[in-house]
Amino acid sequence: MESKRSSFTGKLGFVLAAAGSAVGLGNIWRFPYLAAKYGGGIFLLVYIALSVTFGFSLMIAEIALGRKTKLSAIRAYGSLDKRFSFVGILCSLVPVIILPYYSVIGGWVMKYMFGFITGKTAEMAQDTYFNSYLGITVEPILWFLLFIGITALIVLLGVEKGVEKISKIMMPILIGLIVFIVAYTLITMDGAWDGVVYYLKPDFSKFSLMTVVAAMGQLFYSMSLAMGIMITFGSYMKKEINIEKSVKQIEVFDTGVAFLAGLMIIPAVFAFSGGNEAALGQGPGLMFVTLPKIFDAMPGGSFIGAAFFVMVLFAALTSSISLMETVVSIFMDKLKIGRKVSILVVLGGSLLLGVVSSLGYSAWADVKVLGMQFLDFFDFFSNSLLMPIVALATVIFVGFILKPKAIIEEVELLEPFKFKKLFTAVIRFVAPVCILIILVSSILTAFGIVSI
Ligand code: PFF
Repeated sequence: MESKRSSFTGKLGFVLAAAGSAVGLGNIWRFPYLAAKYGGGIFLLVYIALSVTFGFSLMIAEIALGRKTKLSAIRAYGSLDKRFSFVGILCSLVPVIILPYYSVIGGWVMKYMFGFITGKTAEMAQDTYFNSYLGITVEPILWFLLFIGITALIVLLGVEKGVEKISKIMMPILIGLIVFIVAYTLITMDGAWDGVVYYLKPDFSKFSLMTVVAAMGQLFYSMSLAMGIMITFGSYMKKEINIEKSVKQIEVFDTGVAFLAGLMIIPAVFAFSGGNEAALGQGPGLMFVTLPKIFDAMPGGSFIGAAFFVMVLFAALTSSISLMETVVSIFMDKLKIGRKVSILVVLGGSLLLGVVSSLGYSAWADVKVLGMQFLDFFDFFSNSLLMPIVALATVIFVGFILKPKAIIEEVELLEPFKFKKLFTAVIRFVAPVCILIILVSSILTAFGIVSI
């Protein structure tokens, strides 16, 4: 088994592959709408604070666990301690739930890309366009099928490397375009600077436990943590690569892109709504409502809009591919089936859940689970429930069963682990307490027992 495990070539190979999985719709679509909704500057502050403590420590722990055991998540925990086998199963469930609805949003991206290519910019810039589009029953499902079909085809043909190569070119262009859009909005649009203040200046009166719950869920999602992905990546990582340095690079990259995406969207919301705070709370549709307006106001906006959505599509594809790869390999392992059959099984299951997520906005808009539409429910279930449970179990496992020393030794194979004190303190004490509080509060909120 072990001898068959391929490994990443070179240092950059690992960082780029992990960053390709990390940077995706989570950064460009999810982060800005959460930051807008949960108080702007205060959300950003909490997010960054969590990222350099929790995110850093958990990512180190997961990668080191993978490299140490040379196993993917579903078996890594159990191989070290039988009692923790359930964690492997739980974290494998996360990508199974995310993949379908991630692909529904990937479908929205394709629809918008196509809209800009065909010059429908002014139409898409209307306030009501996005919601009426989502209200259509069949079309969003067709775009979803196309997105997940492309993902499956790439996984089936095993041409991920090709996509990764293209996305290495696309990523810098995407970042360049985001910077350009930020500059354009700030220079030309009245009221945009108020949005910058809202985004950058923490307003402590807007702080609530929900800020932390949302920021923590986003952190897991964005950095692909608490879902076994980084354990699997770690299992492919060579011993000559410095785990601590790689984690820092991935973190800076991932948080940097999310930060810029927020800066692109939030000031524009201010400019277009005249500072109306209600516009900030739109949720999942925020990016799709705001960006077309910017492109519509810009000379050559249709072209820039089309280019932008093409790059976002690539970022989304590198993430959905790594999601599907993970799910496919879990089913291969567990059901003892071949790769092709596994892809078919995953595709079948994802089609079912994806269609349900999409219909939740149209034909089934009245059906709610715990007061949420299906897509929001899947998002909540994975990000606010499963991931904290997995993260809690992981920190308890690493902190008290395996002991931080085992991870530190793995990190220190090459060079001293600079932040090992921070790592130990976070894993053993800070993280368990905080994650527990967060978990309890999101369960209580979900069942309507308290509102935070
Ligand atoms: N981290 C990705 C994003 O922010 O878009 C989402 C994701 C990709 C999660 C791949 C999990 C995964 F395996």
